[in-house]
Amino acid sequence: MGANVIRGIDRRRFLATGAAAVIGAGVATRATALAPADVPPGGALRSKAPLPRPYQVPLPIPPAPRPLQTAGGTDTFQIVQREAKLEILPGLRTTCWTYNGTFPGPTIISRSGRRTVVRHRNELSQPTVVHLHGGHTPQDSDGYPIDLTMPVNSRLSVEDAMAGMDDMGETHGNIAYGERTYTYPMQQRASTMWYHDHRMGYTGSAVWHGMAGFHLLTDDEDEALALPRGERDIPLMIVDRAFEADGSLMYPGDPNMHSPGVSRNHTAGVQGDVILVNGAPWPVHRVQRGRYRLRLLNGSNVRYFKLALDPPPPGGKGLVQIGSDGGLLERPLRHDTLRLAPGERFDIVVDFSRYRPGTKVRVLNRFGSRTTADVMRFDVSPSTRAVHDDARVPDRLALRAESVLDPAKAVATRTFEFRHSGRAGWTINGEAYRPGRSLTRAKLGTTEIWRFKSVFFHSIHVHLDPFRVVSRNGKAPGPFDHGWKDTIAMGPGETVDVAVRFTDYTGHFMLHCHNLEHEDMAMMADFSTY
Ligand code: C2O
Ligand code: CU
Ligand code: CU
Repeated sequence: MGANVIRGIDRRRFLATGAAAVIGAGVATRATALAPADVPPGGALRSKAPLPRPYQVPLPIPPAPRPLQTAGGTDTFQIVQREAKLEILPGLRTTCWTYNGTFPGPTIISRSGRRTVVRHRNELSQPTVVHLHGGHTPQDSDGYPIDLTMPVNSRLSVEDAMAGMDDMGETHGNIAYGERTYTYPMQQRASTMWYHDHRMGYTGSAVWHGMAGFHLLTDDEDEALALPRGERDIPLMIVDRAFEADGSLMYPGDPNMHSPGVSRNHTAGVQGDVILVNGAPWPVHRVQRGRYRLRLLNGSNVRYFKLALDPPPPGGKGLVQIGSDGGLLERPLRHDTLRLAPGERFDIVVDFSRYRPGTKVRVLNRFGSRTTADVMRFDVSPSTRAVHDDARVPDRLALRAESVLDPAKAVATRTFEFRHSGRAGWTINGEAYRPGRSLTRAKLGTTEIWRFKSVFFHSIHVHLDPFRVVSRNGKAPGPFDHGWKDTIAMGPGETVDVAVRFTDYTGHFMLHCHNLEHEDMAMMADFSTY
């Protein structure tokens, strides 16, 4: 026990010096020169491995296994968490922590209204926690950060696994040994969700090493629309990483996971110099001259992207947004660029028939520089023959209008300030995360206004139910704030009001920064529902 206390103190001191310096620099120099919520400052790790030229590696599509069993309204999947050596950079092997041996993990496809059960078996050497991001999930399956699943073959004690955490008191999680069954009722509308590790103190490291995958939810409303489907419906997980000379992943945290946190230069968040899409560096994908649905996810620990098509199609506005975190928009929105903060999803349709046959369309990152300015490329088929494409983007997408949350009916306004506090590190309302302590309580079925205030770059995520953005800095929502959101980008000095209503499940849920290093260094809070 004594050792834990000392580690806890170290962790605070570590943060107080490291992060405060970074914050000072970030806010004073870069942030003032940029539009709010543009791009967080911070240097990236430099890979030591030789990097391939962009647009050589084909885009992988993660496998989408059929359920093991489908019975009585339940679809059951099995995932084994294990190390795997993957060829990410051509010719090198990278040891990843995977779901079923791939990165991204398998894409799970569920149908709204049918329960999905995922059995996870932990064959890794450290404890894990799985969270379904975007899921409307009861607490016991939501990936509460101390509900550890201990490795199948290890003697690691729960106490050792929690070493270095501050303020745990007598709190302990619901511990499983070897395997855990997560149950998702899927009483929610179609959306692009993702699952990833959520262990207290180590989420950044676990996700960086490969623990992330897509979970897609379909429903009648989505399927009734003539949106692109099959091989023209592609999930794209965009992340940055950095690699050591031998191909292993570079991460500035404790490799033995005995103490959380990252080295001093990276307390603002860990960024790499290689962009991976579905696990491949700057990949290329051959497309027909037709419409494609691209489900974009920024799965990075901290990097923001501002995506643009190069060249843009004649007439511009090539990125037609049909959905956001929480599913279809009411109406499509046409963009030239899309900004994605960590954890956010944008469901878009790109019509490649607007391009001449044979055009090579790059997806660029306008927030990047050098290697991080390239993302991937779509090579439009050179064939001049017309392709069959009966996909459409109707003017009206979601049938249920947005009357759903009326901010005028809000019963309370709660303010959450995301800031760095010298003593406690990255905090919400001055508090470092402590499991079991709720910052607020919300009554199921009532609407509240949650006011997020930020003095730095934070990507703010709320579990359990999505929200609607009511205002940004006292004005109308920004161009990327539309629809049902569960994650929202914030820049220095910003205030965002959202309307939220929790339903169905009582218990403790989380609200946190999705900059995974901020999250690990305690920028997380519980809220409880009753
Ligand atoms: Cu995507 Cu609480 O996380
Ligand atoms: Cu979540
Ligand atoms: Cu943050």
